[in-house]
Amino acid sequence: MMKQEKKRLSVSALQNGTVIDHIPSKHLFKVISILGLNKISNQITFGGNLNSETQGKKAIIKVSELFFEQDDINKIALVAPDATLNIIKDYEVVEKKVVQVPQSIKGIAKCVNPKCITNHEDIPTKFNVVTNNDEISLKCHYCEKITDQEHLYIP
Ligand code: CTP
Ligand code: ZN
Repeated sequence: MMKQEKKRLSVSALQNGTVIDHIPSKHLFKVISILGLNKISNQITFGGNLNSETQGKKAIIKVSELFFEQDDINKIALVAPDATLNIIKDYEVVEKKVVQVPQSIKGIAKCVNPKCITNHEDIPTKFNVVTNNDEISLKCHYCEKITDQEHLYIP
């Protein structure tokens, strides 16, 4: 059996919905949380620590009957900038979408600065996205402190 076929067997095929592929394995649950997949009733299957030829360990998520808006997809750029979304209709991949790094991010991550107003009052966080060396960091709209990948906390 070829590698590709084995991969397909790891998580069974989808009839209608979205396959989110090429997620770094360590960020699988963050992607689930960012997209709110823990709060919906659609059928979901996922696999983690799958071998990938290009990525080391990758993860994949398959959600039935759910199709994302580009704005929603872009939110996962924080943790899975190389993810691809495959739109499946009647078992066929009918469209592939890629993640685009958004200019700003609202209400997902926490600000690293303990003194930041967003950590003391009920104000949703808001960041400008800054990219350096392919890595995404967040600059707080309120306190201007940078939250880098290492300190990125997504509740
Ligand atoms: N897939 C699925 N159910 C289907 C069709 C496809 O779960 N009915 C999954 C495949 O297992 C794969 C992804 O959707 O993980 C994309 O499918 P396809 O484009 O056929 O695979 P690749 O060519 O490997 O895609 P890429 O080049 O993006 O890795
Ligand atoms: Zn802040």
